[in-house]
Amino acid sequence: MNYDHRFHAGNFADVHKHIVLIALLERLSEKPTPWFYLDTHAGTGLYELDRLPADPPPEFRRGFEILWQANPSDPLLARYRALVASDNPSGSLIRYPGSPLLARRLARSGDRLAFVEAVPQRQIELKRHLGKRPGVHCRDGYEALLALTPPAEGRGLVFLDPPYESATEAERLEEALPRACARFPQGVFLVWYPWVDADWTSGLKRRLARIPGISFLDWLTPRGSGLWGSGLALVNAPYGIPARLARLEPELTALFQNPLGATQWISTWGSGEARAAPGPALRGRRPG
Ligand SMILES: C[S@@+](CC[C@H](N)C(=O)[O-])C[C@H]1O[C@@H](n2cnc3c(N)ncnc32)[C@H](O)[C@@H]1O
Repeated sequence: MNYDHRFHAGNFADVHKHIVLIALLERLSEKPTPWFYLDTHAGTGLYELDRLPADPPPEFRRGFEILWQANPSDPLLARYRALVASDNPSGSLIRYPGSPLLARRLARSGDRLAFVEAVPQRQIELKRHLGKRPGVHCRDGYEALLALTPPAEGRGLVFLDPPYESATEAERLEEALPRACARFPQGVFLVWYPWVDADWTSGLKRRLARIPGISFLDWLTPRGSGLWGSGLALVNAPYGIPARLARLEPELTALFQNPLGATQWISTWGSGEARAAPGPALRGRRPG
């Protein structure tokens, strides 16, 4: 497996997925009953930003570092910043926590977490970063998705964050996700997908749109080469979450604005309809 999340940690796609992840876990914690969290593509849990090569500029500089420097006003963004700050006690941004560490921080004592990472060396690193907390599995994330659901808790969040480096990744996702949703109909499912090739992504969204209760939230920058947009599919979005996330749009758009073009936070909540491609305002070169 060539994909190495170290180089992408804290980029704008991580910002997108981690904001939504935090919103969902906080919502689950509003009820006292325990929840279950399954992270099917967990990564190593913590990334050393100060060990990245300076050239080309690391991706977090156009991602989380913008929020870090801005001291955002929205409470959800402020909470996200504070969670990352707990890994950076010196006050300089040198570490970025991945989804497992963020979820662990948000878990209460009765909540249960399971992390799946297929690469043995990364799974060892993840265990080291999580300390004694059990629940780390070295196996295939899609197998684990079906093996570990439905959870005994009857409520929870499943996060799928595949690297999309294999030609069969989308196929595997499209096969496993509807089955898991049927096995765990009360579950909330969050799936990340890339915008690199608009036709490919639109096709994936069209096919995922057949899943009952699915909606999409895309965060797009001007089109260009490489990753120019970040997408999230959400199955069974809890009541009020779409409106809560929509309220972030003005602040995020203002913060991530750049001289070459605006960003856009596009929600297609509730319709189940896949949105094809960004509008004309977004056509252009990707900054940097
Ligand atoms: C995008 S990274 C995960 C980042 C993490 N979710 C976060 O937000 O911090 C994807 C991870 O999935 C792992 N991976 C790739 N294929 C996998 C599979 N079939 N099952 C489980 N893990 C896999 C990769 O080794 C990589 O660490």
